[in-house]
Amino acid sequence: MNDVVGAPILDRRGWRGDDLQQPSDWVVELSTGQLDGLKQLADQLPSSSELWLNADAVENTPTEVQTLINQTKEELAFGRGFTLIRGADAADAERLRRVFWTLGVAVGNPVMQNAKGEVLSIVADRFAGAQRGRDTRGYESNDELRFHCDGGDCIAMCCIRQAPRGGMNGLVSLFSIYNEMLANHPEHLEVLKRGYALYSRKEKGDTESTKNLGKVQQNLIPVFAWHEGRMSTWLNIQLAEIAAEVSDGGFSEADRAALTCVEAVANQPGMQLTFMQQPGDMLFINNLAVMHRRDKFFDSANPEERRSLYRMWINLGDGQPVVPAHAALRRGIRGPSPAIASL
Ligand SMILES: [Fe+2]
Repeated sequence: MNDVVGAPILDRRGWRGDDLQQPSDWVVELSTGQLDGLKQLADQLPSSSELWLNADAVENTPTEVQTLINQTKEELAFGRGFTLIRGADAADAERLRRVFWTLGVAVGNPVMQNAKGEVLSIVADRFAGAQRGRDTRGYESNDELRFHCDGGDCIAMCCIRQAPRGGMNGLVSLFSIYNEMLANHPEHLEVLKRGYALYSRKEKGDTESTKNLGKVQQNLIPVFAWHEGRMSTWLNIQLAEIAAEVSDGGFSEADRAALTCVEAVANQPGMQLTFMQQPGDMLFINNLAVMHRRDKFFDSANPEERRSLYRMWINLGDGQPVVPAHAALRRGIRGPSPAIASL
């Protein structure tokens, strides 16, 4: 790779939503052999998920599954920066959790996502209309989530159930946004290369795990950065806004204008890919390449029918060299010890 400051990204990383008209352009359908292979590997996991973290490395990965793993890693690191793998059965949520974990640990190392130390967590509305604020984590509410990147190299979400209404996802390539900024809004590039401070939401937990939460992390995180001939990208629009809100002085005119412009470009017709994750779909997104968003959703009154997804933040084992501010994001959030959630 030989990315140069000021040159557009013209390979697969710079995709636009309107390039991907048909699901067959971007959805990976599991073959019967892959599905059987994944289930066979999942069934080798210890019966209690508390033991999964220390489980021996899986041996005898079927060739077809290994091909899927290699393709997933390649697409995340050098391709479009996301992949949606379809075909797993969501009717048995526990089996699905095992299949998702099996695939996740084959792609990389799950890192902690919260102060509880969860390396596999549940995305669901925990508020049911109750008051929320700047410290509400997005994955625990039914709110609209504007474009953002998460922690870890990669976020993976596996759908168990959708809500009766809402919850549509949008993905946009930050490389494609860079191309647009370069061509049409170059006046914002200096600010975007410098980047934004990040607010870390406050969480309950032990003193050590939470000491840096509920604060603005003062290191600026570049939206666009170059390192060893490779460009990497990262932005969380809302957390940059909260950081400015709680800091003395807030945004400068130029800071705000650049962020507003990036969000407007991301939402321009043709830029994003929108879709509804179907039960069983496993979505992997490279956070150093692609932003994601979610529409507000409206849940069922029946607890058994509420929207639920499994989520992992994954450190890609052979992650590419990137600037230190981006590399730091790969570590996730430090909790007391790794934990695996279940429904
Ligand atoms: Fe997210």
